[in-house]
Amino acid sequence: MKKISVLLFIFCLNGSFSLYAQSTFNRTPSSLKAAPPSANEKPQINSPEFYGTRTGKEFFYQLPVSGQRPMRFEAEHLSEGLKLDKVTGIISGKLEKAGRYTIKISAQNQKGKAAKDLTFVAGDKLALTPPMGWSSWYSYGRKVKEEDILTTAKLMKQYGLEYYGWSILEIDDPWTNQPGEKDPVWSAFKTKTENKVYEYHEGPGNLTDRIGPTRDQNGVLLPNKYFTNIAQTVKDIHALGFKVGIYSSPGPLTCGGVAGSYQHEVQDAAYFAETGFDYLKYDWCSYGIFAKDNSLEELKKPYRLMGTALKNQPRDIIFSLCQYGMGEVWKWGHETDGQLWRTGDDVRDNWKSVYHAFKMLADKSAYVQPGRWNDPDILQIGAVGAESREGNSNHLNPQEQKTLMSMWCLLSAPLLIGSNIEHMDPFTLSLLTNNEVIAINQDALGKAAGLKYTLDNQIEIWSKDLYGGGFTVGLLNPTDQEQNAEFLFALIGKNGKYKVRDLWTKTDLGSGLQQISSKIPPHGILLLSLKD
Ligand code: GLA
Repeated sequence: MKKISVLLFIFCLNGSFSLYAQSTFNRTPSSLKAAPPSANEKPQINSPEFYGTRTGKEFFYQLPVSGQRPMRFEAEHLSEGLKLDKVTGIISGKLEKAGRYTIKISAQNQKGKAAKDLTFVAGDKLALTPPMGWSSWYSYGRKVKEEDILTTAKLMKQYGLEYYGWSILEIDDPWTNQPGEKDPVWSAFKTKTENKVYEYHEGPGNLTDRIGPTRDQNGVLLPNKYFTNIAQTVKDIHALGFKVGIYSSPGPLTCGGVAGSYQHEVQDAAYFAETGFDYLKYDWCSYGIFAKDNSLEELKKPYRLMGTALKNQPRDIIFSLCQYGMGEVWKWGHETDGQLWRTGDDVRDNWKSVYHAFKMLADKSAYVQPGRWNDPDILQIGAVGAESREGNSNHLNPQEQKTLMSMWCLLSAPLLIGSNIEHMDPFTLSLLTNNEVIAINQDALGKAAGLKYTLDNQIEIWSKDLYGGGFTVGLLNPTDQEQNAEFLFALIGKNGKYKVRDLWTKTDLGSGLQQISSKIPPHGILLLSLKD
């Protein structure tokens, strides 16, 4: 593998550049496959207005600011207990007393300066806006390795994704070991299920190179041989400004068939915190065999157990429930101290699957608020073929991928990039770095859009209100033909006259408007913001 030296420079405010650090690393391509957007522009602060942290818990927050590097960050009225790294823009520390702490952040580069108020809300809520990041599942699938995560972090930084708020890298299945053939876990499964789950997991040996001891003599979970230096990797990724997520199951086996947290929940939560993880995706998988029945209590139990264990750790750890919507999880996920919950099955890169995911959430906006998010699944945007073993592929056309991104933003869904960043292309990057589109996902009011009206030609009107007044609308065409949308705002109870902006093209379409008419391509969307 080719080694590449990288020189990092700090921009000093007198306008000169100084040598900051030199590091070598593997696997990062010498040239990027798409130009990082805004790389030559003045700073643009993309952070939402609020950031939630638990009182007395350690956290860190990379200020998401796009624009030319190097950049210099400042914070006025920085609260006691927090510190700002003026070069990286990382704020870290803890807030010992519950309350709201507003600071003025500013960012300066050679092209100009930007400033914005940011309020830290210390209390018991995390993820006041939907979590944003990347997941390894559709990009590296069952072959995921530690070095893939580090490579992705470096690339996400180089592409500038971090500066738009993509802040968490989630290591999905399978990072632990599969129990060996003689391990009692397998015989327990066999007797409990008359071989069914045993077959589902293809039995011991479906991951031949990831078989081994699952825990050490003290019961501490062991990463498999592709994650031998996991604590250091987490540190390295933190140093790049990203949070790191991890994956487990309340059952003894994850969906991929490697060790989960069953009967080790508190110990695993402590291990996740000590290793430095900031996020846990907790996937039901084999737990069903061990739950007594399908009652609500049994569905909640494993999530309560882990949610409490995470809350007791000394650092903020976001808790992502993955149980595919069982028991209408959107109604009670927050009771388990979770911040996001999958609302259905895995979404795939075909229109039927993604459209079904939209419709699932058409009537569930009432359950969404800051710190409580319906999660339709990982974004099927870009090269998502790893899990289906098709590598650099996506069966959604560009229009459909744009609609998907728009709908996830309207729905205030967690945004986890599914694609392999090594295969980045200009179109994918453009979908992931439109700050006006992302802003409606990260809107501080924390509402989710619902399906408000359907026109005669099946055009669907999805809408939600925005922080500070105004609202956003998506005109979605689910049909296979181009349609003309004639949309009177009064149809959704908006009786005023509005200034209308197209968020993807960032163009104003007019002011004093009461209606809009536009052609919408098949499976396409027009995404608008409207203000008085
Ligand atoms: C389930 C989840 C996916 C992924 C896989 C891993 O299918 O829904 O998101 O985590 O398990 O095995």
